[in-house]
Amino acid sequence: MKIDVLTLFPEMFHALDHSIVGRAKTLGQVEMSFLNFRDFSTNKHHKVDDYPYGGGAGMLLTPQPIFDAFHSLEAKSPRVILTTPTGKPFNQRMAEEWAKEEHLVFLCGHYEGFDQRIHDELATDEVSIGDFVLTGGELATMVMIDATVRLIPDVLGDQASHEDDSFSTGLLEYPHYTRPADFRGLTVPEVLLSGNHARIEAWRREQSLERTYRRRPDLLEHVELTDVDKKFLQS
Ligand code: ADE
Repeated sequence: MKIDVLTLFPEMFHALDHSIVGRAKTLGQVEMSFLNFRDFSTNKHHKVDDYPYGGGAGMLLTPQPIFDAFHSLEAKSPRVILTTPTGKPFNQRMAEEWAKEEHLVFLCGHYEGFDQRIHDELATDEVSIGDFVLTGGELATMVMIDATVRLIPDVLGDQASHEDDSFSTGLLEYPHYTRPADFRGLTVPEVLLSGNHARIEAWRREQSLERTYRRRPDLLEHVELTDVDKKFLQS
């Protein structure tokens, strides 16, 4: 996969040189480029922002530097993701979809955001990472890149390790324990030591259902519940 990021702060993206995404870069499973669109400004002071027509607080990113930076990319038909708090909320389904793409382009907003013509002409997706306002789109882009890259086949060593992820099943993930079985009197649930896989599966499903019911009841509306699930939730 190729990922291009148009940003005023390319240095921030060194955070992606580490851990699993860093390894995916090193192994060539994903190729990333970071382009500072200020370099494309035809303004003699390299300005990239201007006052909004009609008045109001803050400055907007002007079209010229971003259009020219975008058109400098070798982009056939990329998915172009514009970061904005007014976008569709990012979720695991989007990450799964994007992980199948050959080319993603991220446009990182700043100031009060983009001139609307950038939204209209360049973006295929306008996405927010949550109901809060960041100082810019860089952190949002890193969050979305991280969530997407780990789903590219072979990036996680163990494929199964994301099939049970929270949200992949539509439910929050169940609790996990590792050794020791007794840590200073804090014990691991007996069922996990039983070796009985059917019981373990049933316990995990119940834990997922209970956690989701308590913390994110909104998610339950979109999950196909079995009769056993429904009985458990009513109990
Ligand atoms: N830019 C500023 N706030 C944002 C958010 N919540 N999501 C994506 N981009 C943003």
